[in-house]
Amino acid sequence: MKVDEAKKYHKIDAVVVGAGLAGMRAALEIAKNGRQVAVLSKVYPTRSHSGAAQGGIAAALANTSEDSPELHMFDSVKGSDYLADQDVIELFVHEAIKTVYDLEHMGVPFSRTEDGRINQRPFGGHSAPRACFSADVTGHVLLHTLYEQCVKHHVHFYSEFQVFSLLIDNDISRGVVAWDVRNGGLHIFHAKAVMLATGGYGRAFKITSNAHANTGDALGLILECGLPLEDMEFVQFHPTGLYKHGILLSEAARGEGAYIINNQGERFMKNYAPTKMELGPRDLVSRSEQTEINEGRGIDGKDYVYLDLRHIGKQRIMERLPQVYDLALNYLNVDAITQAIPIQPTAHYSMGGIPANIHTEVIKDAKGTVVKGLYSAGEAACHSLHGANRLGTNSLQDAVTFGRIGGAYMSEFVKANGYENLPANPLDSAQAKISALMDGKGKERYSPIREELQASMSKYAGVFRCEEEMLKLKKIVKELQGRFKEVTIDDKGPAYNLDLQEAFELGNLLSFSETIVEGALARKESRGAHYRNDYPTRDDKNWLKHTLAWKTAEGVKLDHSKDVVIFMDRYPPQERKY
Ligand code: FUM
Repeated sequence: MKVDEAKKYHKIDAVVVGAGLAGMRAALEIAKNGRQVAVLSKVYPTRSHSGAAQGGIAAALANTSEDSPELHMFDSVKGSDYLADQDVIELFVHEAIKTVYDLEHMGVPFSRTEDGRINQRPFGGHSAPRACFSADVTGHVLLHTLYEQCVKHHVHFYSEFQVFSLLIDNDISRGVVAWDVRNGGLHIFHAKAVMLATGGYGRAFKITSNAHANTGDALGLILECGLPLEDMEFVQFHPTGLYKHGILLSEAARGEGAYIINNQGERFMKNYAPTKMELGPRDLVSRSEQTEINEGRGIDGKDYVYLDLRHIGKQRIMERLPQVYDLALNYLNVDAITQAIPIQPTAHYSMGGIPANIHTEVIKDAKGTVVKGLYSAGEAACHSLHGANRLGTNSLQDAVTFGRIGGAYMSEFVKANGYENLPANPLDSAQAKISALMDGKGKERYSPIREELQASMSKYAGVFRCEEEMLKLKKIVKELQGRFKEVTIDDKGPAYNLDLQEAFELGNLLSFSETIVEGALARKESRGAHYRNDYPTRDDKNWLKHTLAWKTAEGVKLDHSKDVVIFMDRYPPQERKY
């Protein structure tokens, strides 16, 4: 099929790519500031993966016990294994409080204390009950509330639009080109400012809590434009993935008192985090769980342990954890009121992503040079907020807070700036990708390549890593990239061509996965979620630094000259104990 009839052209102040919490919060801010904004999403907005977030959104409201932004800051710095930029965390913990009240005023139905305040539950690595929640469907209610607000404020939604290329020329963003999934055909969105908020990319792994849509498309596009990604080696494995499915069973379960037990019936976290037990940070709990499994203490000697809610009781489970209950029942036929639930670590969150500064402006080098008119927020971005390991409930807060901040800066930007000219032949790059997949003569199909990538990433770049295995993985990813060049698709039609979409997504998975592997190979230490059996300790002398990764014709180029922002007089690096 030729795509030469592509002629749709839209001129609009701002474009937001992605309709999760970060994208919609940014769009809402822009619209409230009186600017025209379009949100492009490859799924219907309320199906965005933010809706799968369950346990809560962190803010030091101190509604159920003593707390302060300073304590939230310290917990996040420590949780990050000292790799997070402390200026970013400082801004975040103060803005977090405003963000939650702002959401409350928009109508988010938070669960309440007896005296009517927003209720807060404990979460891993936090020293106070800080997670504001709505049962265990917090992401879902936030997403729906933000969608309603966006509709009210006349945000233009383009649902089922897949962005195929970024129009960046001379380090200036000029818009995007997107494929209309429903009808077929390419559209040009000519915009003064573009925000990339496409979420996480756990679909590079076989066992993941992430939705099928989480394929890191913006990351692939950024690399294609010659721009870098940051800290890609840090992938978070959540300890309570539903066995074999990877689906998230919220940490809220442990916040409400659930145990994790091995085949001896032992709460083994007492051996790894005696103070925090099951509410240790995720990197530590996942590693402990995997160690139990590797040493033969998985249930029936298999690769899972149990999440045990039974002592919590039916009434509280149904009131506070209805989704956890339903997921266990529907997917494993386990009744969590009377039975323990099989769990295993699952790829959940990506600390790395598109490098962006505290204003969400995308940067292109270690000096922080800005790509004019380009912004990123949410899980797609790396503001260096989570460092080497994110604390639970800091992600919803990150998405909404930096969505709001980014939206405010974009509003100012579009007010102060005119439209940049489009590059010559703006459709070329997108058209070339579509033609290669539709008209190519290669014999490869995308799904076996995707399966091999996911299985290999889970096997060789999981909770534990080492050089020998990652070198194998590097070779596999290269081979798969070669095979991808020979992929053609069977569906040649314009409408709902999911073959086209999935093949395009695979190209992105293959592209950024290489930066995860190369970053992990280079980082010869263990820090946060990145644990190397061959370098089991943290090495602050050599590795207290961020990783930037570019794709070049010669392979991935790494730069470790971007410093970590540390307030030495307040939170100097210490040994991390729980
Ligand atoms: O376990 C959870 O509810 C996940 C929360 C998060 O990733 O922040």
